[in-house]
Amino acid sequence: MRHMIDFTDLTREEWETLYTRISEIIDAPEQFIDVCRGRVSCNLFYEPSTRTNFSFQTAMMRLGGSVFGFADPNSSSVAKGETMKDTIKMVSNYADVVVMRTPWEGSAKAAALYSSVPVVNAGDGGHLHPTQTLADLTTITRLRGGVDGLCIGLCGDLKNGRTVHSLIKAMAKFKDIKFFLISPRELAVPEYIRTFMKTNHMWFTEVTGLEAVIPQLDVLYMTRIQKERFVDPLEYERNKGIYILTRRKLERAKQDMLVMHPLPRVDEITVDVDDDHRAVYFQQARFGMFARMALLEHLSLQKRDDHLPPVEICTKPICTNPRCITQTEHYLPPLIKKIGGIDCCGFCDSVLK
Ligand code: NCD
Repeated sequence: MRHMIDFTDLTREEWETLYTRISEIIDAPEQFIDVCRGRVSCNLFYEPSTRTNFSFQTAMMRLGGSVFGFADPNSSSVAKGETMKDTIKMVSNYADVVVMRTPWEGSAKAAALYSSVPVVNAGDGGHLHPTQTLADLTTITRLRGGVDGLCIGLCGDLKNGRTVHSLIKAMAKFKDIKFFLISPRELAVPEYIRTFMKTNHMWFTEVTGLEAVIPQLDVLYMTRIQKERFVDPLEYERNKGIYILTRRKLERAKQDMLVMHPLPRVDEITVDVDDDHRAVYFQQARFGMFARMALLEHLSLQKRDDHLPPVEICTKPICTNPRCITQTEHYLPPLIKKIGGIDCCGFCDSVLK
């Protein structure tokens, strides 16, 4: 694994090796305080973040490394009109690993084309968020003993929720997973995710009601309605507050079900659920920091590559997704990938029209 862009970059064996390291760190974090001494992480956050940015920062600090970057692009040369390519070329001169979050789908994949050091996708718009998946898989494995065979309910904004997309992609590596995808119809998973699940023979069913399926679940993964991704404010108004997990609804759930959430929560889990033994979302955030420690150790100790192959310059854009990174960074090459035999954009995964 050279970069962490999409969870599909990892094989199951690589995940297991990484998980072994994550477990060692969780059990004895004090033994890792020097493993990244002298290593530097550049954290580029083009989009608001508290927990993910803090989680990456503290992960690097706990390994003895240091961190620089921005949490507001307006305080950097981005505000002067610098392209993302130039920003990445510059910071990869200074850092050993680049962690980035942006509102543009496919941006981390784009950055990796120009970076001499590993790139970590800390969230690219409503597309993917693979390091949240590291936190999620660590939580499930630590608390349930493994992932195979689980029945998982994903609830909320499955269209714009990048944590959900990455989690689904990761689950293709495990056996006998059942998914209940619980969302209003207009916030159902994107077409490419549905195609991905079908191509990988994953069991899933799409429903609109939470209460009817709760008794069957081993994991209930709640998500926030992603207000910032809605183009139409009325669509947000129609959907906000649509799923609210309460203590009463939990009464019908299994005693060992895990209630997970990537956080931040708005109103989709009432505060009285926090004291239920099944609510593990705060612990999940702590596991996330340890998981990022293992990832940063693995990536930041790699040898830098100063001889990157030349990248084709685009003459004709091929992706029409308005949120795709190719819409703002016009020089990016026309990358195509097949998902279930269908041509999709190599950056944002959207089906090419
Ligand atoms: C998530 C994100 O940014 O996508 N948060 C996180 O990284 N912990 C989920 C969200 O913002 O709803």
